[in-house]
Amino acid sequence: MKKSMTIGIPKEIKNHEYRVGATPAMVRAFVENGHRVFVQNAAGTKIGFEDADYAAAGATMVKTAAEVYKNDMIIKVKELQESEFPLLHREQILFCYLHLAPDPIQTKHLIDSGVVAIAYETVTDAQGRLPLLYPMSEIAGRIAIQVGAASLQMINGGKGVLLGGVPGVAPARVVVIGGGVVGTEAARMAIGLGADVTILDKDINRLRTLDALFGPRLKTLYSTSFSIEEAVTQADLVIGAVLVPGKKAPRLITHKMVKKMSHGSVIVDVAIDQGGCSETSKPTTHDDPYYVVDGVVHYCVTNMPGACARSATQALTNATMDYALTIANKGYKRALKENVHLREGLNVCLGHVTYAPVAHDLELAYSPAESFLE
Ligand SMILES: NC(=O)c1ccc[n+]([C@@H]2O[C@H](COP(=O)([O-])OP(=O)(O)OC[C@H]3O[C@@H](n4cnc5c(N)ncnc54)[C@H](O)[C@@H]3O)[C@@H](O)[C@H]2O)c1
Repeated sequence: MKKSMTIGIPKEIKNHEYRVGATPAMVRAFVENGHRVFVQNAAGTKIGFEDADYAAAGATMVKTAAEVYKNDMIIKVKELQESEFPLLHREQILFCYLHLAPDPIQTKHLIDSGVVAIAYETVTDAQGRLPLLYPMSEIAGRIAIQVGAASLQMINGGKGVLLGGVPGVAPARVVVIGGGVVGTEAARMAIGLGADVTILDKDINRLRTLDALFGPRLKTLYSTSFSIEEAVTQADLVIGAVLVPGKKAPRLITHKMVKKMSHGSVIVDVAIDQGGCSETSKPTTHDDPYYVVDGVVHYCVTNMPGACARSATQALTNATMDYALTIANKGYKRALKENVHLREGLNVCLGHVTYAPVAHDLELAYSPAESFLE
């Protein structure tokens, strides 16, 4: 017989984090499945999910984080902040982004508390993709063109070029480096606005797919230092969207190339969360997103989806909802045992690190997840 779970949705407390772990729609899905959901007051108010919406969906509203953290499973967005560590309890399920490899302090607290911590970012799918990171890349790729268009405006230091041009005036030249999730969505938006778009990738099959997807409105180029130099130095707007999984982003745009770009051109380096793909990139924040190097405007915000927190919350919860329901309906042991891809998300379990790369990077003992699921 299905057991019911209690689920807590806290208000995010990381600086400028306005996303929330569950929408009212997700709350209703839990309630329809026989679970009880406790949402912290004002958890979604900033992005238009009012307390009354959650209550109407069947949630019980609670005032404090301590009340939220009493529950069987916590669903949130970002990694835990210091004030949340003492609220955890043994065998509590934690489902959120964790990014433990560079974070020994959080990892120690998760180990000491005995929680079952399932990280969004390491859940996989049958195609080997990361389905809970995917929607954030889609959002970031689309935002990249919006902020790129704004950066080209005079007021932000840009050269004053309109992405789509107008009849009789050439459109902006947009160059996207990396044709994965971010790059594809950036290309889609730029083409939609009428820009002249070129995409570079070193995966020839990826270029074939993009060619089939967009047809002659997208120019594809095989990525070499030569083709990058040629494309970047003639571009009005460059989008950095490369990823070499598990590695720092390759520095494909050299400072010399940036010097050759025309005054008021723009680089939006989405790959900045992996260190950035231009030698001139350094992380910026939503508070102060732009800086200029040799006349070229740079936008290097590390958490771009935060700019559109409502859409990002909807996209994220669309992706997390089925996994979260499975965990609640089956209990974590059965859910993780039956689904190898969800099991890849288990990073820490009952005092042990169960995700090999985290154990390796933090020099901690590794225990296979399977040993805790009997
Ligand atoms: N700043 C943000 O807020 C934010 C948000 C989401 C994603 N990201 C980052 O954006 C980057 C791209 O993410 P993604 O989901 O699109 O990754 P992805 O794996 O889907 O795509 C990366 C692409 O880069 C290509 N590539 C690798 N080396 C290359 C090279 N030398 N030249 C040209 N192409 C090359 C790959 O072949 C692949 O097609 C990642 O670093 C990701 O972490 C940042």
